[in-house]
Parts: sequence; structure tokens; C-alpha cells
Amino acid sequence: MEDNNIVEFICKIPKAELHLHIEGTFEPELMFKIAERNHIKLKYQSVDELKAAYNFNNLQEFLDIYYIGSRVLKTEQDFYDLTMAYLTKASGQHIMHTEIFFDPQTHLENGVPFPVFFNGIYNAIMAAEKVLGIRVELIMCFLRHLDEASAFDTLEQSLPFKDKIIGIGLDSSEKGNPPEKFRRVFEKAVQYGFMPVAHAGEEGPVDYIHEALELLKIKRIDHGNRSKDDAHLLSKIALHKIPLTLCPLSNLKLQVVKDLKEHPLKHFLDNDIVATVNSDDPAYFGGYLNENIIAVQQALNLQKDDIIRLAKNSFEASFISAEQKKHYLGLVDAFVSEFKSH
Ligand code: HPA
Ligand code: ZN
Repeated sequence: MEDNNIVEFICKIPKAELHLHIEGTFEPELMFKIAERNHIKLKYQSVDELKAAYNFNNLQEFLDIYYIGSRVLKTEQDFYDLTMAYLTKASGQHIMHTEIFFDPQTHLENGVPFPVFFNGIYNAIMAAEKVLGIRVELIMCFLRHLDEASAFDTLEQSLPFKDKIIGIGLDSSEKGNPPEKFRRVFEKAVQYGFMPVAHAGEEGPVDYIHEALELLKIKRIDHGNRSKDDAHLLSKIALHKIPLTLCPLSNLKLQVVKDLKEHPLKHFLDNDIVATVNSDDPAYFGGYLNENIIAVQQALNLQKDDIIRLAKNSFEASFISAEQKKHYLGLVDAFVSEFKSH
């Protein structure tokens, strides 16, 4: 397939996104607009000056700026606008289904009550499902740099909205904050019916992936890059079909990989892992989902069959029902046959 053709193929194939932080979709232009409306002064004078600060040597340097950005979000309307902007973009990229992370503790610490941010996000989802036809689920993340008590408190505050949240996750500073710290919170959350996932093996050691699987009983590994070096773990992940949600441009920007040519995605696909590609925090890392897939396609010389596999994996790895999976996998097959003949 020629270069132009494969780019068009990537852009138009039906797909799902499973690793996306809504706070990480906060584009500088919208940040300035909302800051002005909330009478908040940003320390940057312009969009360009803000963008120039998006130069990270590691995860923590990114998180420091990402949490500052989120302080601008105050009202239900702010959360609505943020979510609607992402869903509009996602729908334009032929994303049919997305499972979105949000960070309650960030907003609670900023003085925004749970119902305010939650209803803003949720009302945008309801509107987008109706108008754009995209399907959306929500995953609430605990910040791992905070303590267990704070996570328990957040879990309690989420209970009135429990039926509108499909899962729980674990994000923020990985090193020094092992999954073990949240074993009891995850146990409780699973009893409430939340699906457990966790960021593991992004910057942290491979042991954290083992811990997240064994102690937190996660159903999906967010990032999981470090499992590349553990053949035994890889065969276990393949056997149990535990998906990985990889984020190539994020890995490049946070220096998890030095070059996309070294990205483990292809290694995972070759080892029968249900690997998926995602954008993580697209406003900060220079690309939404299609840009991520195009970047790895070029760096790793992925072929059309790999792209089909990634699209199918994205639905297989999602938390939709078996029946819905069948429907979306059918859409992928229909797209592939249609594309051949045009
Ligand atoms: N890792 C950990 N925490 C995060 C990330 C990430 O990539 N993005 C937003 N919060
Ligand atoms: Zn992430």
C-alpha cells in the first residue's frame, strides 16, 4: 500500500480509544478561553509561550504542568466544553467508542465538588452520544502520589454516580508508588462493581506490572512497556489475553523511548499480545489517536494487516459487551472490504 493510502486507511478505519485522560485533552486555546472566563491569570502570556513549556524529560515534569493546567477548570460548563471538544475530535477520527479517564482528586483538591465536574463530563457524553453517535464509558483514576485514605474518600464520593462509571484506574507518579499501596481500595471498588485497570510499567519497574495483575487484579494494563523484558510475564499476558494500552507519542515525549523505532508495540504484536494504540494526553504530546497510529506505522513499518489488527484489538480490549464487540468488529471488516474496492 502506498504511503498516502495507508494514512487514509489509518484515519478512516473504525477504532476505539482506551487510554485517554480527559484533562490531557485540554488544548492551550481552550485553556486560555476558560481561564479568561473564570478570571484566572495563567503564568504564560500566550498560547505559544504555553506550548513552548511542553518540553518534558520525564513523567513528573509533564505531570507538574498538567496539574497546573487543570486548575483553570472550575464550573460544570468548563468540564462540558473540555469533554465535548475531545469527543468532537475523536468522532472526526473515526473513533466509535472511547473509555475516558478522569482524575477526581485533582478537581477536588482544586475546590471543585464531585457533582460539578462529574455532571459536566457526563452531560457532554450524553449529548455527544446523541449528536455524534460515539459511545463512551468513564474510568475514574486514583492519583498514586496521594495516600490510601484519599483514594478511599474519593471512592465514597463517587458512589452516587457509580452506575455511570465503568471502572477505576491508577495514574500519576509511578516510581515509588507501587500498586500494593492501593490493594485494599481496589478490592473495595471491585466489590462495588468497578472494572480495575492501572498504569504500570511506564516508567516504573516490571515488578509493578506483576503487582498490578496479582494484587489489584487488573483487567487491562495501561502502558505496560516494561513487560517487554520479561518473557514469562509476556506469555502470561498473552495467555490470559490481558490487553496493553500503549501510547507511542506519550512515550516519546516523556522519554520512555528515545526513538519510536525502539517502541515495543511491534514486539508485543509479534508475541500475540492484545496491544492497542492510544493518545494518553493528546493536547500535551502532539497528536490524537490517528497521529499516534501514523507515527508508529512509519517508525515500525507496520503493514495494513497490522493496522487492521490494532483496530480489532481496540474493540476486543474494551469493556463493551460481546454483542457490541461483534458489531464493531463487523464494521472493521466492512470498512476493509469497502476500502479495497475504491
Ligand atoms: N502516566 C501517569 N499519569 C498520567 C499520565 C501518564 O501517562 N497521563 C496523565 N496522568
Ligand atoms: Zn495515561
